Amino acid sequence: MSKIELKHIDKFYGKNHILKDVELTIEDGDFMTLLGPSGCGKTTTLRVVSGLEKPQNGTIYMDGKEIVNAAEAHFAPPSERGLNLVFQSYALWPHMTVRENIAFGLNIKKMSKEEVNKRVTDALERMQIGQYIDRYPSELSGGQQQRVAIARAIASEPRLLLLDEPLSNLDAKLRVDMRSELKRLHTETGTTMIYVTHDQVEALTMSTKIAIFKEGVIIQVAPPLELYNNPANLYVADFIGNPRINFVDVKATVTAAGMEIDGAAGKLSFPKSDMTPGAPTSGTFDAVLGIRPEQVTINTERQSPDDIEAKIYTSMPAGSETLVTAKMCGVSMVIKALGITHYSPDQTVYLSIDPKKINVFDKKSENLIKYSV
Ligand SMILES: Nc1ncnc2c1ncn2[C@@H]1O[C@H](COP(=O)(O)OP(=O)(O)OP(=O)(O)O)[C@@H](O)[C@H]1O
Ligand SMILES: [Mg+2]
Repeated sequence: MSKIELKHIDKFYGKNHILKDVELTIEDGDFMTLLGPSGCGKTTTLRVVSGLEKPQNGTIYMDGKEIVNAAEAHFAPPSERGLNLVFQSYALWPHMTVRENIAFGLNIKKMSKEEVNKRVTDALERMQIGQYIDRYPSELSGGQQQRVAIARAIASEPRLLLLDEPLSNLDAKLRVDMRSELKRLHTETGTTMIYVTHDQVEALTMSTKIAIFKEGVIIQVAPPLELYNNPANLYVADFIGNPRINFVDVKATVTAAGMEIDGAAGKLSFPKSDMTPGAPTSGTFDAVLGIRPEQVTINTERQSPDDIEAKIYTSMPAGSETLVTAKMCGVSMVIKALGITHYSPDQTVYLSIDPKKINVFDKKSENLIKYSV
């Protein structure tokens, strides 16, 4: 169990500025996920925390103790940080069986034979690979090897567990199973975890907090639902959610009373209390509505004068839900309807949008100006 604080971390590779003034606090017991597209600096952040890389600027505290202070060239060696890292490309000892791979680190710690055996079998069971205990890595598939690497990390019961895309090699079904195993492991042990992924569903389902990265900068840190409901800007809104959020360009007018919106989604008005602290306080400007696919309902008859007339473009039933694309005033909207619904192309439908739920962004600054409430 550990609390980690990164303060003003800068990391350069040569002239490339990879991590830019990264500030991040991971509370004791957090499941913190670093999320962002390829190359944004997620692995680099883990390597800096683990001590495999030295940042050029900044400090890192672990439970209040300074483990990195770049200005004073103080970098505690990885072995003193009490953590365990599972790499994006896992490395098992090829000449050791699964049991030996996992027991190796435990034996070094002079643990009793019973304790080692218990931890090895528990970890393998959790990863659903108990039957491979006496095999060599070369006799396992990539996904099985990856699960051995995770088992090895959890068997050591580290204070801090760093996992770099540990499920990326697994097929879809197994990935879902392993997500729930890792989440369960986290609740049972309370181990602080830093988890890297570029899969936003993984991030949303497992984490207590998510840090969104963009080109080495942390854009927003928040619990999953907060990030989903109130993304700080267009970048986060677009990155989080599957299917993606719908953006609709509109005109916004802010007065002392609140905000009026006019555009393809009709006229909407919001009270002042729904606006974010940084929102403009007056004037007319370009804005963007953020409407999640599940925030729209489709009816074949008009239910209210506020309903928006639209035409069906495509309808894609997928068992538990149907993804419908409809066009309103030429703007495409993706709508998620529960269950199986059938619409024909070009059919006229009526869309009902709950104005309380939608987000509004300032087009110029790209920042959120109206909360989903
Ligand atoms: N050892 C290195 N030397 C030089 N540049 C590096 C090195 N390691 C990483 N980089 C660069 O730093 C940037 C961030 O890399 P990083 O591995 O942290 O990305 P990532 O977010 O983990 O991406 P991915 O999702 O693809 O794993 C990339 O542009 C990468 O090319
Ligand atoms: Mg990476």
